[in-house]
Amino acid sequence: MDGFLVKGFSGKRILEGVLPVMGAKNFALKAQAASLLFGGHVLLENMPLIDDVCKMNQMLEDLGVKIERVKKRNFELNIPAVIKTDLDKNTAKSLRSSIVLVGPILAREGKVSFPHPGGCVIGQRPIDVFLEAFKKMGARVRLNKDLYTLEADKLKGAEIFFRMPSVTATETLMMSAVLAKGKTVLYNCACEPEIMFLAEFLNSAGARINGAGTHTIVVQGGGLLKGDSICRVPPDRIEAGSFAIIAALCAKKLKITNCVPAHMRAVLQALQNVGVKINFGKNYLLIKESPGLKPSDIKTREYPGFPTDLQALFSVLLTQASGRSFVFETVFEGRLNYLFDLERMGADVVVCDPHRAIINGPTKLRGRKMESPDLRAGLAFIIAGMVAEGESFVDNANNIDRGYENIEGRLNAVGAEIKRITNNE
Ligand code: EPZ
Repeated sequence: MDGFLVKGFSGKRILEGVLPVMGAKNFALKAQAASLLFGGHVLLENMPLIDDVCKMNQMLEDLGVKIERVKKRNFELNIPAVIKTDLDKNTAKSLRSSIVLVGPILAREGKVSFPHPGGCVIGQRPIDVFLEAFKKMGARVRLNKDLYTLEADKLKGAEIFFRMPSVTATETLMMSAVLAKGKTVLYNCACEPEIMFLAEFLNSAGARINGAGTHTIVVQGGGLLKGDSICRVPPDRIEAGSFAIIAALCAKKLKITNCVPAHMRAVLQALQNVGVKINFGKNYLLIKESPGLKPSDIKTREYPGFPTDLQALFSVLLTQASGRSFVFETVFEGRLNYLFDLERMGADVVVCDPHRAIINGPTKLRGRKMESPDLRAGLAFIIAGMVAEGESFVDNANNIDRGYENIEGRLNAVGAEIKRITNNE
């Protein structure tokens, strides 16, 4: 297992230069799944070169899709007339997004079998919302040990109310409805920008989706979508927010390019609340050395609220703020565990319950060995290591590689000193 050796700069600000943002992980994976709604070729451009994209490609190839990498970040997918209907169990168990393949396969082939999806260990991550919705569309659901099988001669349009605005459930059911018979109305949908972009991509190939990006989505079902379609992955707003937080802690002057500040209002507001000076234009952020950081409260919410994916990174920032801050994680029940590692580095943290914590700062962090429990906490540990005194070793680099492309190379290019250690070194 690889790990990252991180040099600490004891709170000194060393980063400077330009950090371009890659394509959005949580859009790219869904565009890959959406390719199964098409008859023929689909070209996906500006794909992030991350492990989860590779795994999604593996599952698609296992289903019979031919994939050719036509350029560094462009993949041509050729969808056969008939695809397999059972997901490769081991791969499907290793990422949450495997669940997003289930809808298009069921809608296209009338049958699908798959294991419970995997992904970051940040809570239970049930799939009840998906199963209830598929039943409403006429699917029969069977569970044998940990293998689900869904069958439906032809999915029927239905009125579905999600008991919570699940991002992947919204995306998966929206895609299923594209090939269903009749009209589907989805209520209490997630409103992430990636969902709007996904609908735009599908509509450009003949789908009839209205309301994506709002809480109610209406889909008129039809046949397979037009092949030879092109989809360009938009910038990753979570990666851009991650870099903005790193800049707030460690930068002399850092320009974050190829991003969309208009989709990052909550995190930019939170950074300004703690005293970070941010200049921004249509597609860049410029963050310079800001005087002492002020304490603040963050509460994660569905989009457009403060993103749960940036909660751990922002908490590292709060350990350096002068005063008491409150963190309220409303989306996942297991997404505060990383705080115990920050405490062992010297942070002053009180975890009140699975959703709430108090952080008192500023505290000096001391470098230590840590294991990244998930993608975002893993990067939070790298950031804490950069702020700390001495060296840190962040193990399980593969968790970070799942969602951040060449993270050590890109941060080192602006002044960090992070070395990847493979386990035979
Ligand atoms: C997506 O996960 C993202 N992953 C997550 O990003 C992100 O944190 C999350 O949305 C929230 O924004 C991808 O898009 C691949 P949810 P998802 O369904 O869809 C509960 C990252 O770091 N729920 O919106 O799995 C669930 O337990 C990852 O990039 C049910 O109870 O999240 C959670 O408490 C981590 N039953 C809440 O809903 C269900 O059937 C929101 O989860 C589905 C969800």
